[in-house]
Amino acid sequence: MRTKLFSPLTIRDLTIKNRIMMAPMCQYSAVNGLANHWHLVHLGQRAIGGVGLIIVEATGIVPEGRITNNCLALFNQEQCEALKSITSFIKSQNSVPAIQLAHSGRKGQCDGEHYAPSAVAFSDQYQTPRALETKEIYKLVENFAHSARLALRAGFEVIEAHMAHGYLMHEFLSPLSNKRTDEFGGPLENRMKFPLMVAMALRDVWPKNLPVFVRISASDWIEGGWDLEQSVVLCHALKKIGIDFIDVSSGGTLATAKIPFAPNYQVPFAKEIKHQVDILTGAVGLITKAQQAEDILFNHDADAILLGRELLREPHWPIKAALELGEVPPIPKQYEKAY
Ligand SMILES: Cc1cc2nc3c(=O)[nH]c(=O)nc-3n(C[C@H](O)[C@H](O)[C@H](O)COP(=O)(O)O)c2cc1C
Repeated sequence: MRTKLFSPLTIRDLTIKNRIMMAPMCQYSAVNGLANHWHLVHLGQRAIGGVGLIIVEATGIVPEGRITNNCLALFNQEQCEALKSITSFIKSQNSVPAIQLAHSGRKGQCDGEHYAPSAVAFSDQYQTPRALETKEIYKLVENFAHSARLALRAGFEVIEAHMAHGYLMHEFLSPLSNKRTDEFGGPLENRMKFPLMVAMALRDVWPKNLPVFVRISASDWIEGGWDLEQSVVLCHALKKIGIDFIDVSSGGTLATAKIPFAPNYQVPFAKEIKHQVDILTGAVGLITKAQQAEDILFNHDADAILLGRELLREPHWPIKAALELGEVPPIPKQYEKAY
């Protein structure tokens, strides 16, 4: 029997060999935004382990858009070159290299001036950001497009726009962090404007035969904040632009949010968006077991499974999951004697 977890997923002209994806995870191990041996071995090991698509951590599109001074960045040629060995190794293992393009906004803790839609701090532990001027917002759209061009040159096959977790684009979406009174603030349509401009620019740069993903926070988990209903409207608009896949996370706008962490706690969001918008979605968050992942797909709650921390503990999780589910395990020939 063919399981859902190990059936391929084709998006545009790209076929992902299974439904297991590695969620983007900051490693805080870069200097000057440059990928190094840590990133190659860390990501490469999950490719060896059989993961179908690997998303490189939140990567800053401008220096001040990094979360920390040790986060990856992609705005110059040197950073592009440093990523090439990673994409080439991931592809050599028949896995798909993807990268999350990001801007930290008011949650940035790296050097540089921090800005956001409005001059409202994330918490009293954080600096108060400066509110962006209109022309700066347009410039950031160009910065995202520039990073996407570099990502393509570096060998990536998928880009993911980071619109989640209380970073810059999510800050525009949520009424809790966006207090603007111009065309980028107020009604939902205005709050969506900057993220949609970015999505459009990315889709424009990215080859027509390759997919573009977006990660969203489907809810702020706070009364009066960003929620599922608004996420559905956003995803309809993203779909219209040509975004192929929504990676559905949640939270991150305010530290005080009460999030009901439990296995599958974000799956209902992925399910609702998948069915209401008719778009491919990925489920993420406290998914650790093979049967749990299989059930999510079997129930049509999502089209792929993203694993974060479980892949840090178990770099070869797909091999283990395949053995558990009675599938042919994706064991590289170099490791066959171990099984
Ligand atoms: C060390 C670490 C770093 C993370 N960095 C990112 C990131 O760069 N971008 C992002 O969207 N999410 C990031 N996350 C969130 C994960 O992608 C994932 O959504 C979250 O850990 C929940 O999935 P899990 O329960 O499988 O770990 C990070 C999580 C961890 C544990």
